[in-house]
Amino acid sequence: METARRTTTRLTDAVDGELTVQHSPLMSPLVWDLAHIGQQEELWLLQQGTGAARTPVFHPTIACLYDAAEHPRSMRTQLPLLDPRESRRAVADVRNRVLDRIARVRADDPREAAFAVAMVAQHEHQHDETMFATHSLRSGDPLLAPAATPRGRIVPAEPVLVPAGEFLLGVDPAEEPWALDNEHPQHRVHVPAFRIGRVPVTNGEWAAFVDDGGYDDPRHWTREGWAHRRAEGITTPLGWARDGAGGWTQRRFAVETALDPTTPVQHVDAHEAEAYARWAGARLPTEVEWEKACAWDPALGRRRRWPWGEQAPTPEHANLGGDALGPAPVGAYPAGASAYGVEQTIGDVWEWTSSEFAPWPGFSPMLYATYSAPFFGGGYRVLRGGSWASTALSVRPSFRNWDWPVRRQIFTGLRLAWDA
Ligand code: AVJ
Ligand code: FE
Repeated sequence: METARRTTTRLTDAVDGELTVQHSPLMSPLVWDLAHIGQQEELWLLQQGTGAARTPVFHPTIACLYDAAEHPRSMRTQLPLLDPRESRRAVADVRNRVLDRIARVRADDPREAAFAVAMVAQHEHQHDETMFATHSLRSGDPLLAPAATPRGRIVPAEPVLVPAGEFLLGVDPAEEPWALDNEHPQHRVHVPAFRIGRVPVTNGEWAAFVDDGGYDDPRHWTREGWAHRRAEGITTPLGWARDGAGGWTQRRFAVETALDPTTPVQHVDAHEAEAYARWAGARLPTEVEWEKACAWDPALGRRRRWPWGEQAPTPEHANLGGDALGPAPVGAYPAGASAYGVEQTIGDVWEWTSSEFAPWPGFSPMLYATYSAPFFGGGYRVLRGGSWASTALSVRPSFRNWDWPVRRQIFTGLRLAWDA
């Protein structure tokens, strides 16, 4: 909870005078995310169960302004939101009450109380990542500086073979208590043999697709993808420009930087990812294939908690936490390889899959019952593995993110797959 709050504070203090500005109709003003974090924390940690007698910090007429389902992002600057000072104060008041309550409470069901805290901490991390996306779109003075990442290395070009066989999809809450509702129940599935890229697709590989006229050839695109690409005039990943010397730059976080050809491509939508894959003679993995390649240990016939084993992520395993402001070059994390030898599944870039967001059989909603369920079957695409802006607490091999296939202001890339 404290790690998330440090990031929230950093991302909102950095832009103090701009908190109420909308940098893109796709994103909320940062002051909305800030107060929404506190409003959700009050809802799930102070207003559930016993003793909600005190006057709430967020009065119901104010709390409703922070209901994401009620107000689309593009309209949020028009709401009578709390101003930045009031928002900071409300968020801090909620946190103080939560800490008070945790100190005094003797929960009847400590597992359930601990889960509520885990859920709220992950919610804040998710909005921190959303605020990183807002920061990446803003212009003006650069405010955040990237930290260095480990160097890349040459990775064998051949994809990894995952032989046909069963594995356990999803996790058991007794073993992974922070897992959210859509990650269970765990169940056995048979996965036909497939091949999967050892690392995500890079900027250099993507540039070859652009240079080959990939954006101008409808044969690579689905019908829906081509229509969207035409309507929006999409000809490169978001923010790419020619540097005049045969290379590319990308504008993010108010800075234009030369693109490293060895770094995973980011800011592509699912249609672009599918077109690239078809051009390359490949396809996107299903989310089930992705999870098996990431977490299954075929020698022991069981899941690993992380791709590399049981140890929590360190800076040798994965690029997480937001400081890098972008993905690391491919090959930078040999210690993060899965049992099959697949690298950089956790962190760096969210990876598009071909799967629509749907429940595992036997799904039952958690305390925050509208977290997943309203989105099942709604045309959302599953993304896996987290990005450089995710954290060790908000992402894991079973974690399932979802978004519209046209989204690309988030930190999205891809990994190829093939039938075997
Ligand atoms: C899991 C990233 C799709 O941030 O839109 C946050 C999660 N739900 N607040 C999002 C979420 C409510 C959601 N994603
Ligand atoms: Fe939220």
